[in-house]
Amino acid sequence: MSEVKKRSKQSISTDKILESEEKKAKEKASPNKNLPLRILSRTVVIFSLLIIVYMSAKDRTKIFAKQTEVIPGKGLIIECSSEYMKELDEYEGCAPKNCKRYVTDTVISTKEADELLNMAKRGLKHGGSLGGASILDLHSGALSKGSNFVNFYKLKEMKNIFDQNDFNTFRVVKDKIKYAIAHHFGVQPTKIYLTYPTFFSEISTKKAVTIHDEYWHPHVDKESYKSFHYTTLLYLGDYNIDFKGGQFVFIDSNYNYTVEPRKGRLSMFTSGAENLHHVQKVTAGVRYAMTISFTCNKNYAIADPGVEKYIS
Ligand SMILES: *[C@@H]1O[C@H](CO)[C@@H](O)[C@H](O)[C@H]1NC(C)=O
Repeated sequence: MSEVKKRSKQSISTDKILESEEKKAKEKASPNKNLPLRILSRTVVIFSLLIIVYMSAKDRTKIFAKQTEVIPGKGLIIECSSEYMKELDEYEGCAPKNCKRYVTDTVISTKEADELLNMAKRGLKHGGSLGGASILDLHSGALSKGSNFVNFYKLKEMKNIFDQNDFNTFRVVKDKIKYAIAHHFGVQPTKIYLTYPTFFSEISTKKAVTIHDEYWHPHVDKESYKSFHYTTLLYLGDYNIDFKGGQFVFIDSNYNYTVEPRKGRLSMFTSGAENLHHVQKVTAGVRYAMTISFTCNKNYAIADPGVEKYIS
């Protein structure tokens, strides 16, 4: 009885094998029969893969700070670059608890941003690069003009273009920023110093003429300005309202994080290689911002700019 069962099972399985082998042989004999179906299915697979690749590439840019939202405070901790940490070992009380980016819309008021914007426009009216990007540096007096720079503290027509009230506004804003850095990065406010350059920037849609107009290249601040340890950017205008394009982008290996300028928005970050970034091209309007940076190295510290800067 059991013998019979076994045998019949065996014969069934043998039959199945034979059947499938027959099928394979048939397929081989007529290779063209299923070809359109195969092409179709492969095309579907390839297209799906392309869509996945495309979607994942698109998803790798995140908007960290939208222009339309008011951000009390938003930070992202990142790993410090080793050179940055090594350098800061020398300066007690100045190394950050963590390297990071931190954006806040509640430290600097719209009124303060407007006063600084007014200063920027008043000063830059007397200069202006032939290309798209101009600066006005409150420390050195450097003002973009044509394809070069002049020292506005020396120019007769710019004598007293900024009065002590203007410099006071700058100092109040600078002090607020200094304490904000101390608070959010866990450093001693007495161990960080305002450093140079400290400047207004104006970006228009004009085509670049000199290398100074090429603001859009990815860079590390510590490499551009060796005095910098903490970079801060204060936006004096609104993305998508006063200008288009001009977003600030932190470039990481997995994701890019965009900061959309907003009037009075303060962006603070450690100046090392952990914060590689670039500014996207401005495509309409004029973008105003201010760079106010701090150093741990007393040798790079600068005094608050004031009316005594004018050279008569
Ligand atoms: C981030 O931006 C840079 C510069 O535009 C670009 O080269 C890079 O591919 C972007 N990375 C991601 C993950 O999207």
